[in-house]
Amino acid sequence: MSNWNRSSVLLRRTVGYSAAAALLCTGVSVLFLVFVGGKDADAARDRVTGAWDRAVPLIRQGYLPAELPAGRDIAIQVLDTRHQVVSATPQLAGRPPMATFHATSASVHAERVLCPPAGLKGCMTVFSYKVYQPDGPWILYVAVPTVPWYGSTEALSFAIGMSLLATAMTAAGTFYVTRRDMSAVDVIRTELAEITATHLHRRVPVAHNHQEEIKLLAGTVNDTLDRLEGAYKQLRQFTSDASHDLRSPLTAMRAQLEEALMHPHDIDWPRTATAVLAGVDRLQAIVTDLLTLAKLDARAPLDLRPTDLGRLVNSELDRRTYRVEIVRDLQRNVIVDCDRLRITRLLVNLLDNAARHAASQITVSVRADGPTATLEVLDDGAGIAPEDRERVFDRFTRLEASRHRDAGGTGLGLAIAREIAEAHQGTLTIQDSERGARFVLRLPVRKAPQIAGRSEHHAGHSDFLGLPVPR
Ligand SMILES: Nc1ncnc2c1ncn2[C@@H]1O[C@H](COP(=O)(O)OP(=O)(O)O)[C@@H](O)[C@H]1O
Ligand SMILES: [Mg+2]
Repeated sequence: MSNWNRSSVLLRRTVGYSAAAALLCTGVSVLFLVFVGGKDADAARDRVTGAWDRAVPLIRQGYLPAELPAGRDIAIQVLDTRHQVVSATPQLAGRPPMATFHATSASVHAERVLCPPAGLKGCMTVFSYKVYQPDGPWILYVAVPTVPWYGSTEALSFAIGMSLLATAMTAAGTFYVTRRDMSAVDVIRTELAEITATHLHRRVPVAHNHQEEIKLLAGTVNDTLDRLEGAYKQLRQFTSDASHDLRSPLTAMRAQLEEALMHPHDIDWPRTATAVLAGVDRLQAIVTDLLTLAKLDARAPLDLRPTDLGRLVNSELDRRTYRVEIVRDLQRNVIVDCDRLRITRLLVNLLDNAARHAASQITVSVRADGPTATLEVLDDGAGIAPEDRERVFDRFTRLEASRHRDAGGTGLGLAIAREIAEAHQGTLTIQDSERGARFVLRLPVRKAPQIAGRSEHHAGHSDFLGLPVPR
């Protein structure tokens, strides 16, 4: 990320979050101020009622002093029937009436905001009460400062102050967290940019003080790097094994040709040509297997078709001849979705191996175990030791005993077979057996839609395989 982009992201995020915080604070402040304003208005009313409570008995009983006791934020005047001020709180002593309005005959009380009432300062709410006396109605004026909707200036300053503080803290927090996370991402980015095929062992740092998402990101990046490193090591090993296996026959062929050219007249050319041709065959076999693997690695699409596995195996066995006896135990109507060419290739690889290692017999069986179709190739040879049963599926792995038995193998047959199984969402493993090696292929059975008439397909003339039905 360029510096300009960084600053822009930082600015946008900080401004965005601060604006949201300011909006929220404004909302909360308004609610708070309305509440405080309401409380203050109630308190003012209580003071007015208190003043009324104290003044009215004094008026009625005739004990009204000329100067009423001073109260906090309250001004009182009592007017007689001639509207002469007969009593007042100290700040209105000797002053004319603070207001001219009074309650109508219909009510005993009226209220108005005056800015200011006569003889006072600021806006005040003036309450006027009629107090009935034997000589006629007297008037009691009580004035209290008008309470604004926000209560007091102190409350307003407090709310504004707190809102500014919260917004500033949000801005600072957002700025800090965003900058910290961006630096964490920057470290990951820089490290990733420096990783090349020769530095695949490097990993991005996972710091504990980072946000959970950043830690997850770093963890995922490292897992991906682990897998890449593993795949790359495998590829390197494969390339080196492949080159080695291709070089051996080339070296042998070269030696044969050079020797022949040294004594061109004494040499048996047809024999030399046959020997060189054997080398060419071997090279061809390796290259063909490598191409097959490359296609499987590239996940070339499979030509999947519903297939009766037993019939497919049966027809393949019919087409081949082996030096050992082949026993067939093939269940019918085990239908799988498969690429027939590929599954045949897998079967042939297993059969060729079995034929090479069997003493006298190979048993091939097909059956359905619930949702799984199982194909087994069992021989009566020396078998494969449990510790080698995974290794033999690695590319170019040939166990010592086989090298003597057949120098022509490529060590790729089982790797190809397993790739084919996995491309079909299946598995290929070596299982325990009393004698010899037991290769087990498991494939998912085709989930046939239960449509009426479907059973006809199973009857033998189906489109599952245009091949003869096994007897
Ligand atoms: N049926 C079997 N019995 C014993 N060993 C086997 C059998 N099938 C495969 N193997 C071992 O697994 C190795 C790998 O097999 P494969 O990948 O087909 O390579 P290749 O057949 O070219 O040697 C063989 O070299 C052999 O050592
Ligand atoms: Mg083989």
